[in-house]
Amino acid sequence: MSQKKNSDTGFLASMNSIVENASPEPSSSTTFERPRMNSSEFDAVVHSRRSVRVFTGERIDSATMYKLFELAHQSPSSSNIQPWEFHWIKASEVRANLVKACFSQPAARTAGELVVIIARKGTWRRNIQEIIRQLTSSSEKVPPGVLKYYKTLIPKALALGPFYIAVPFKWLFTRVARYKQPTPQEPIGMSDLRVWAHKSTALAAQTFMLACRAHNLDSCPMEGFDSWRVKRLLKLPPDAEISMIVAVGKAKPEGLYGHRMRFDKAWHVFEV
Ligand SMILES: Cc1cc2nc3c(=O)[nH]c(=O)nc-3n(C[C@H](O)[C@H](O)[C@H](O)COP(=O)(O)O)c2cc1C
Repeated sequence: MSQKKNSDTGFLASMNSIVENASPEPSSSTTFERPRMNSSEFDAVVHSRRSVRVFTGERIDSATMYKLFELAHQSPSSSNIQPWEFHWIKASEVRANLVKACFSQPAARTAGELVVIIARKGTWRRNIQEIIRQLTSSSEKVPPGVLKYYKTLIPKALALGPFYIAVPFKWLFTRVARYKQPTPQEPIGMSDLRVWAHKSTALAAQTFMLACRAHNLDSCPMEGFDSWRVKRLLKLPPDAEISMIVAVGKAKPEGLYGHRMRFDKAWHVFEV
């Protein structure tokens, strides 16, 4: 038992040291410019973003769409693993079937463009390899601990093992270790991994929708669709989950269904 205790402490201690060493030293080679923002422009983007249900149907040009994807791509993600995918539906037959899978709801039917935003639970190994490749091929000095973070800590945190064999061990380990010192509690099982992938993907979806507004377009996020049909239609791999489908386009005035309704902030904002 004492042997096990030591190895737990050893793992947690090495985890802490990896995390501490993963913070970069302030470097004179990296410029850290913070441009002065005009916050009223951002306020206008946020306040005028509404879920629009009726669009003119006018198609959006590729340059604009790629600008929106580029902006969405700047979103933060867990350990920078970027588990999202944006599937811009261009083929007319696929689009017609997608509209049907969205129950022909008005936003899907009238959109200029439809984008299916996917959360991937299974691409993290590939993405970590790419992070390591970019870090090691960069001329910038990689902070000590960063490579270890990606090579050791993150794979341990995300892997579930063949046939989920690691799950009960991870569960037991976190339940015991957390009484000794702060210990990452999730992701343990597949449902945690789903949450993990959807969190980062939903942030990218929101950036995408705010980018639409900043480019004088409108959007509607949709979860009203048959995910089984959409997955089959797009031939998505088993680890892919549809986070949401976003309709993009130019709004028709009747596309706004009423005023914006929000609850009292006291329900949502807490000072602790
Ligand atoms: C995850 C998610 C799924 C949604 N699904 C749908 C949908 O299927 N159809 C729809 O018309 N609106 C959908 N909405 C839009 C919400 O109804 C809308 O965001 C909410 O009523 C607030 O309105 P606002 O976006 O104009 O502020 C969805 C929004 C979110 C965030």
